[in-house]
Amino acid sequence: MARKGIWTIAGGKGGVGKSLLCSNLSIDLAQRGNSVVLIDADFGGPNIHTFFGISTSIISVSDFIKSNQLRLDDILLPTGIANLKLASGAHDVLGMANLNVIQQNKLVKAIKTLDVDYVLVDLGAGTSSYTLDLFLMADVGVLVAAPEPTSVENTYRFIKSAFYRKLKSVIKHQEVRAFLEKITESKHEESPRTPAELVSDISDINPQAGESLKYELSNFTPKLILNQVRTPTDVRVGFSMTAASKKYFGVNLGYVGFVEHDSYVIQSIRQRKPIILHFPDSTAANCIVRIGQNIRQNYHLVHSN
Ligand SMILES: Nc1ncnc2c1ncn2[C@@H]1O[C@H](COP(=O)(O)OP(=O)(O)OP(=O)(O)O)[C@@H](O)[C@H]1O
Ligand SMILES: [Mg+2]
Repeated sequence: MARKGIWTIAGGKGGVGKSLLCSNLSIDLAQRGNSVVLIDADFGGPNIHTFFGISTSIISVSDFIKSNQLRLDDILLPTGIANLKLASGAHDVLGMANLNVIQQNKLVKAIKTLDVDYVLVDLGAGTSSYTLDLFLMADVGVLVAAPEPTSVENTYRFIKSAFYRKLKSVIKHQEVRAFLEKITESKHEESPRTPAELVSDISDINPQAGESLKYELSNFTPKLILNQVRTPTDVRVGFSMTAASKKYFGVNLGYVGFVEHDSYVIQSIRQRKPIILHFPDSTAANCIVRIGQNIRQNYHLVHSN
């Protein structure tokens, strides 16, 4: 298959810049000659179309989900940009905010079989099981955070929730499953376990399950983008986050770059003209292009004192 990768863009918190990054990273990939499909999977608040100046009242992912005849290919819209098509977010938002398992599987299967180089998926804020599952199905899971305590906290919560979700899907061992059910259902757990502690607890129950969890943990390598940074201290928040993620969760978070706060971002959104196309020399556009390159090359920023 021709596909080079599925990237999902998520983030624990709303309004941190997920859609900005998802739309502009897609454009960057398309401009490099890749065939790209951008999917607005934020059914609670779809707005990718706005970044492209496209009206909402046209065909969307919800038509594909509900129809027995339509393929995902059939609902893709031209964006006016060569090589880039858009699956617009559900327009009857109320009925679509939560997909059931069958609908979700249908969407995931269709995404995985699209015959293009890249599929980029914009996810909503939060840690619903739907959001976590789409994040986990990707080849590259990207988290967008802002350098502020609430966003940092939600990012950690997202990492932990995603890892727990992944464990539940891979663990077959009965006793370990029961243990996982018990601790995730308990709302009053006094000291919630980190993924690393969990691996150790599970190894005690069943060493073999412990080994496969260690493997899953080492393969769970989400990427981090910090958006709206204003100072060098803000940039360093990314390094603190990767260090904390490793230390407390045992999770290798890869810091793929930051985007500066830039008034051209606001101007481009107001004018419904993607920043990468219309303000390519702006600081934010340059930051986004560099991030795209880092993700493609699997390069992570390294702290230099
Ligand atoms: N680098 C930046 N510089 C300046 N403003 C920015 C930057 N990034 C994002 N913004 C502002 O933040 C707003 C939210 O961005 P965006 O819609 O991409 O966030 P989101 O995470 O997708 O939000 P939601 O959770 O609602 O889907 C933008 O409309 C813009 O005003
Ligand atoms: Mg968004």
